[in-house]
Amino acid sequence: MQFQFPLQKALQTNQNGISVISAQNSRRNCYLDEVIDKMGEASAIAQQLKQIITTANKFYGSDQRIYMKADGKNCQGLLKVGKKNLFYRDYCGSIKELQPLCVLDFYVHESVQRMGVGKELFEEMLKNEQIKPEKLAYDRPSQKLMGFLNKHYHLNQYVPQNNNFVIFNQYFGQGNQSNVQGKSQKYSRNSQIDQLDIMMQQITKNKMNQQQLPQQKLGYQMNPPWAIDNNTNIYNNNINSQRTNVYKIN
Ligand code: ACO
Repeated sequence: MQFQFPLQKALQTNQNGISVISAQNSRRNCYLDEVIDKMGEASAIAQQLKQIITTANKFYGSDQRIYMKADGKNCQGLLKVGKKNLFYRDYCGSIKELQPLCVLDFYVHESVQRMGVGKELFEEMLKNEQIKPEKLAYDRPSQKLMGFLNKHYHLNQYVPQNNNFVIFNQYFGQGNQSNVQGKSQKYSRNSQIDQLDIMMQQITKNKMNQQQLPQQKLGYQMNPPWAIDNNTNIYNNNINSQRTNVYKIN
C-alpha cells in the first residue's frame, strides 16, 4: 500500500525493512497513525470483517506489538500480536485457562502476497518474541493463514474452540500423530464439540454466579468468558469483538 511519504519518516526499520512498534514503548506520530489505520482497514476488508480490528487509537491503548514491513513509500504488511486469557477445552472436555501470546491481525498487501513477505514478518516476530509458532494462539485464522501455517510450520491439527481461537495440538507437546488423532480436527468442527460447548456454558454459568461482574451490574447481556483481554475491564464491543467475546473477570 502506497503512502505520500517515505515510511522511514514514521518507522525505524531494520535491514530487512521490518519495524517493531510497541504500543507501550514506541513514540506515537501522525504518520505512523495513518499507516496503522490504513493497513488495519485493508486487513479488515481482506478478511471481510464487519469491524476494523487494528486502528492506531485502539492499538495505543493496549500492550500489543505490531510488526510492519516497509519499502520506500510502500507498506507491505502488518502483523499484530498480544496476550489473551483463554479458556481452552481439550478433546476430553477438560478445561484449561491459558495466557498465550496470540496472532491477532496479519495482513500482507495484495500486490505482494505469496512472495514470502508474510513469512519474513512472521519470522521476525518469532525471533523478537522468542517464541515458536506452535506456542502461539491464532485468533480466527483465515484459510489463507491456515495454509500459511501448514506450509511453513506443519501446523494443522487442533481441537476447535467456541471462541474461534486456534491452539494447535503441538502447543501441549503433542505431535501431529498424537493420541488425539481422530478426535482433533483439520479445519472443521464435529458434533461432540457442540456437546462439550454445553458443558462449558454450564461451568461458565456457575462461575458467573460466584462472581459479581461489572457487566451484570450494567445489565449487559453476558457472553461466556471463552476469551478474556488482559487489559480490558469492561465488555469490549469494539476492538476485538469481531473475533472474540472479550472482558475481564476481576
Ligand atoms: N490462498 C491460499 N493460501 C495462501 C494464499 C491464498 N490466496 N496466500 C497465501 N497463502 C499461504 C499458502 O500456503 C502460500 O504458499 P503457496 O503460495 O506455496 O501456496 C503461503 O501462504 C505463502 O507464504 P507467504 O508468501 O510468506 O505468505 P503471504 O506473504 O501471502 O502472507 C497472509 C500470508 C498474511 C495470510 C496473506 O496471504 C494475507 O494477508 N491474506 C489476506 C488476509 C488474511 O487472511 N490474513 C489472516 C487473517 S487471520 C489473523 O489475522 C489471525
